[in-house]
Amino acid sequence: MVGILSMMLMIVVHRKANCQDPLVNNISDLRSLLVTLQTWEAQHADHPAQAGLRRVATELETVLVAKSTSPPPPMALPASSSSGSAAVERGSLRSLAVGGTQCFVAPKAEFWGEPVVWGPEHHTPDAAECCAACRAHQLAAARGGLDAGVNSTACNTWVYCGNQERCGPHYRECWLKHQQTIPPPEARASSGNNANSIWTSGVVYDSDEWLKQYDSRATLTLHFELGDVVVRLLPELAPASVRELRRMAALLALEGTGCDGCKLYRSEVNFLVQGVIRHPGAYVATPRRPNPPQKKVMERGLACWAGGMGGPDWFVNLIDQSGFGDDHLCWGKIEDMSLMDAIVKLPTKPKAKPNEMTFLAQELRFNMTLS
Ligand SMILES: *[C@@H]1O[C@H](CO)[C@@H](O)[C@H](O)[C@H]1NC(C)=O
Ligand SMILES: *[C@@H]1O[C@H](CO)[C@@H](O)[C@H](O)[C@H]1NC(C)=O
Ligand SMILES: *[C@@H]1O[C@H](CO)[C@@H](O)[C@H](O)[C@H]1NC(C)=O
Repeated sequence: MVGILSMMLMIVVHRKANCQDPLVNNISDLRSLLVTLQTWEAQHADHPAQAGLRRVATELETVLVAKSTSPPPPMALPASSSSGSAAVERGSLRSLAVGGTQCFVAPKAEFWGEPVVWGPEHHTPDAAECCAACRAHQLAAARGGLDAGVNSTACNTWVYCGNQERCGPHYRECWLKHQQTIPPPEARASSGNNANSIWTSGVVYDSDEWLKQYDSRATLTLHFELGDVVVRLLPELAPASVRELRRMAALLALEGTGCDGCKLYRSEVNFLVQGVIRHPGAYVATPRRPNPPQKKVMERGLACWAGGMGGPDWFVNLIDQSGFGDDHLCWGKIEDMSLMDAIVKLPTKPKAKPNEMTFLAQELRFNMTLS
């Protein structure tokens, strides 16, 4: 399917590039086509036809750049892999947790509890698998599969040793334990916290009901080194995206860390500032459709997903404009744009051609909190 489409588009674009077809001048139409191509390209990363799609998109972009003096559209960039093994481990931990938030992790902590499976005889490759083992133990108990049937004492707490050097003989031990009452997510400094501890601990919550308390919060504050930007969330325009952003902010608050992959990387004067929102365990991308109808005029200050997609690349719109119609899914509104206006004046990387995207000389990282 993708193969046939890209063949057809290839022919169309070739025709348009060679003849003086009037459609070539219809930049807004071809722009949407380019956005569509780039969307497909991103969505079919593993498909053999992806290279073909990319060729067509690149060719079309070249035609557009040659014919136009306005900047290229907000584009969704493919995911880039971020930082080291700690992030990878946190990432896989999260992905294991049902719903992404049930497997709470406390580094440098040895949680107490009655052991139900002893670590010296129970090794897992990483903390993620240890958390998964705890969950599996719970499920086995619920099925009546352990020694005391459905009344068995099941795991709700795990303790893991993942640093080969420091753990010595305890390396990769995965202890499954049971606590009478597991600490609520807010009580992070619970029993066994100790800066020198070689252990990583966690608890497995039954559900992520605890996130409900965040459902009504509507102010997302982005913390840059340069200052804060306050975004009013717009669940009326992008309910699923706002839900995921709230979960992400809650997760960051729970972990007490900054956002691992949140940054701005592109700026276009009189147009936009663009970035990405990404953190291990929080995957904010949601489908572009269905969603409520978007505003026909993209207002200054709207925060939207880039490339007509559903995240995680996003942009802040700098001017009222109707050029993109309602292509983009918008999830927030920034009233005070002074920091964005300052960011667009920061130094950018040199460009080979004037119509290439403009990248910030230095990417700007940010953290976020919800209130
Ligand atoms: C150009 O695109 C616009 C918007 O999609 C459309 O309304 C218009 O008919 C197109 N013009 C031509 C010449 O195809
Ligand atoms: C579990 O415990 C309850 C209450 O103590 C008891 O009535 C029930 O028989 C037990 N079930 C099994 C399978 O041992
Ligand atoms: C984000 O939070 C982390 C951890 O608290 C901190 O090290 C970092 O400096 C923060 N970054 C910004 C841009 O505020």
